[in-house]
Amino acid sequence: MKQICVVGVGYVGLVTGACFADLGNKVAALDVDEKRVENLRKGIMPIYEPGLDELVKRNVKAGRLSFTTSYAEAMKETEFAFIAVGTPSGVNGEADLQYVAAAAKSIAENMKAPLVIINKSTVPIGTGDWVADIVKDAQPKAIPFSVVSCPEFLREGSAIGDFMSPHRTVIGSLHRDAAEKVAQLHLPLRAPIVITDLRTAEMIKYASNAFLATKISFMNELADLCECVGADVKEVAAGMGYDARIGRHFLDAGLGWGGSCFPKDVKALAYMAKERGLNPRILDSVTQVNYDRRSEVVKHMDKMTSGLKGKTIGLFGLAFKPNTDDMREAPSIEIVELLTKAGAKVRGYDPVAMEVARPILPAVEMFKDPYEMAKGCDGVIIVTEWNEFKQLDLDQLKSVLKAPVIFNGRNIYDPVLMKEKGFTYRAIGRGFDGK
Ligand SMILES: NC(=O)c1ccc[n+]([C@@H]2O[C@H](COP(=O)([O-])OP(=O)(O)OC[C@H]3O[C@@H](n4cnc5c(N)ncnc54)[C@H](O)[C@@H]3O)[C@@H](O)[C@H]2O)c1
Repeated sequence: MKQICVVGVGYVGLVTGACFADLGNKVAALDVDEKRVENLRKGIMPIYEPGLDELVKRNVKAGRLSFTTSYAEAMKETEFAFIAVGTPSGVNGEADLQYVAAAAKSIAENMKAPLVIINKSTVPIGTGDWVADIVKDAQPKAIPFSVVSCPEFLREGSAIGDFMSPHRTVIGSLHRDAAEKVAQLHLPLRAPIVITDLRTAEMIKYASNAFLATKISFMNELADLCECVGADVKEVAAGMGYDARIGRHFLDAGLGWGGSCFPKDVKALAYMAKERGLNPRILDSVTQVNYDRRSEVVKHMDKMTSGLKGKTIGLFGLAFKPNTDDMREAPSIEIVELLTKAGAKVRGYDPVAMEVARPILPAVEMFKDPYEMAKGCDGVIIVTEWNEFKQLDLDQLKSVLKAPVIFNGRNIYDPVLMKEKGFTYRAIGRGFDGK
């Protein structure tokens, strides 16, 4: 059993803390957000993540997981301090490191014994060295410490499974003994462990996210061509995916990626390149292709509804992806903005994200039932690939819609069936021949 402190109890920090506690360690999870900590102490989760509620409660009950706002309390007997605070986009696409700096300073001011500081946040290359300088400057008296990068690769919606069964654990440090200690912590996960230097570990995280985003943007670009030439991008992806050199994951054309990671990480990587006088053409295009998806769907809806002005459009799904209530950079936000600008009224339904979405999308009328939402709509857009939308009763849907118009932004229905059922139907890159 190790004593661990996790700083920042968001998606990554809460999952990290709960999972390390479940592996038998003693974890103090710290956040500066008092309400969040107060709620967690009452058993109220700040985020929707399948399985998290039960995992947190079990480990709190067993005395392995506790929540605090006090650095002094959290750092009391800690051997490992994980930094898992946010690194949002700054004004020019750079990563905003103010939360990392604040966390590093507070750790330094409160550490009582030698410490391994592990950065789990996604941070620009070189941040580990910068964190070491902050800690050194802020310590009231010199206590030995090491900084290790251990980037997180979990996905929201399957975060616990991803944490517990990662594809790999990447550990970067200039201190081999500190890296070995962090490797020991991760041994129960039985994943391959890559030990490297700090900067390389930081780069591996950005490179991985940017590559996955590139795969999706590549398929979205191909989807447009598929439509023009009468090919089906879904089958193209299946055919490509059997090739082990390509792999099937992240080949789904659709409304593009969103969320708290890909958009900011691709931009931050491009920013780092530009800062050094390089021209990151691929990264810039990957972002551009992604954002174009959102305006494309609104253009199509405008045609399919013979003009959006005065029409009512329903959105199936608001979260950036299924199994989460995260609305950060969700495609729905821009789609709503563009639909409203074109004069349409917008309705929305999402199985879990409506509460989070309400203040972000005040113009959207929210419904608790998908068919209620669709009643009287001039068209609907499938925005998020929630499982419950895969099995909608299409006859019922058609009977309540004012006009049977569906734009499927996630390619989850069979176009032939939709045609047979009499829908005016469009998906992405699925054999539309331009007529
Ligand atoms: N969300 C994901 O799916 C994911 C996956 C992999 C990596 N990451 C990376 O992990 C990091 C965290 O992301 P997240 O989505 O968990 O963020 P988040 O916004 O959900 O949570 C961050 C938390 O840190 C807290 N915080 C801010 N400053 C603090 C401070 N000085 N001391 C203590 N707590 C503080 C905030 O109150 C918040 O609760 C980011 O760098 C992100 O890029 C995220």
